[in-house]
Amino acid sequence: MHQDIRGLDVTTSSPKAVAHLDRAVADYLNYGTNASTEVKAALAEDPYCVLAQCYRGYLLMMLENPAVFPKLRQTLAELEKAGGDITERERLHLAALKAWVKGDLMNACLAWEQVLNQWPQDLMALKLHHTMAFYTGRNNVLRSVVSGALGAWDEATPGYSHVQGMYAYALEECGAYADAERWGRAAVEANPEDLWAIHSVAHVMEMQGRFGEGADWLDYSRDDWAHKNFFKAHVWWHRGLFHIVAENYERALQVFDNELSSLNSETYVDVSNQAAFLKRLQIAGVDVGNRWDLIAEHAATRIHDHVLPFRDAHFCLALAAKGRFDTARAQIQSMAVFATEGEGWNARTTQAILIPLCEAMIAYENGEYAKACDILWPMRNELAPIGGSLAQRDLFSQILIDAARRAGRLHMTRSLLSERVAQFPRARRNWRDYAKVLTDLGDMDLAAKALQSADALPAPAAA
Ligand SMILES: [Fe+2]
Repeated sequence: MHQDIRGLDVTTSSPKAVAHLDRAVADYLNYGTNASTEVKAALAEDPYCVLAQCYRGYLLMMLENPAVFPKLRQTLAELEKAGGDITERERLHLAALKAWVKGDLMNACLAWEQVLNQWPQDLMALKLHHTMAFYTGRNNVLRSVVSGALGAWDEATPGYSHVQGMYAYALEECGAYADAERWGRAAVEANPEDLWAIHSVAHVMEMQGRFGEGADWLDYSRDDWAHKNFFKAHVWWHRGLFHIVAENYERALQVFDNELSSLNSETYVDVSNQAAFLKRLQIAGVDVGNRWDLIAEHAATRIHDHVLPFRDAHFCLALAAKGRFDTARAQIQSMAVFATEGEGWNARTTQAILIPLCEAMIAYENGEYAKACDILWPMRNELAPIGGSLAQRDLFSQILIDAARRAGRLHMTRSLLSERVAQFPRARRNWRDYAKVLTDLGDMDLAAKALQSADALPAPAAA
């Protein structure tokens, strides 16, 4: 038995294995590219180290690719068979991994919560819980679990900035923007490498419509993040969103071409960032050329994935946006089978939310705008269980507004845009769209006021 950098027991005969695991956690939390190498090194020191086996499984799961499942199931079976004398914390990590592999995100989260109740300084459990609470759209759980661990941390605890950054993100998703920014900035000050904390503050700026400031906040160069893993693409995605709202579409397309589209590989497809980005541009009236081609091609190979509802939704969007409706419908059929035969959170969410959402997106892309509205309107505020952030799920609001407008549902469009200008009063395009629908409805006075609001905003800048 040896202790990790925060004093938690690890069942192993090798202090070197523990040192490698410490470095793996630090690298993973910093979004570096060495975590797997460090875990492999730990396993080379001690192949029987259960925590190292769990970490290996976690890192494979983070690839969000079902190709890893057979290897993981085999590892889990071998570990169960081997039994052995392990700690309660390690047993709970095994239970979490097992649930996660089954798509049972709720029980995976509950296992990590049990870990954190007793060992609040288990940074890996905290980060994984954070990620999966995010992917189940449970914002209050995000906040309560990080704050439940927070009391056991301070500046002297290695990795504290990551807890600050997670707390910042949780607060942001709960709408506590001022506190979120304060915690996020403190995290970045303590650790400028903390990509999640940088990202948390960017979320605050996005939700508060501080678009120019947000672009400045993310003014990093490619070289600055050359050593970061694929998550950096998501942070570039945020930078690109600031360009879109600033109506600087040329720069937005540059972000897509230079920073997003290169991250497709056999192991990881950057579907959520790419598809959502292209769709937002198209809704804004931008010609995205043939940029759907590659991502739709990838999506077609992943229609039976069902690793995360959020991923599946974006695969479907890519297929539908490219006009590959038969493949998109085949994906929905596969989802239906998964929902019937599967268990846990993913299966339930697939049935209740993902399938109708995908049907709406197919209808929208197929020009059946009224149908898209009929499906999306009643569920528009109930999409959180498919996961993702408020900013990411905003895409579906944008699709609904566009569908309502194209379906000629003027009153629905007015209502949605009234809501939107209230939420994002600093975005000129929202006010202009609002003025347009008010004009179409014959409400010229309100339309004039909406246009005044648009004109009062700074002209699109080179954000
Ligand atoms: Fe984000």
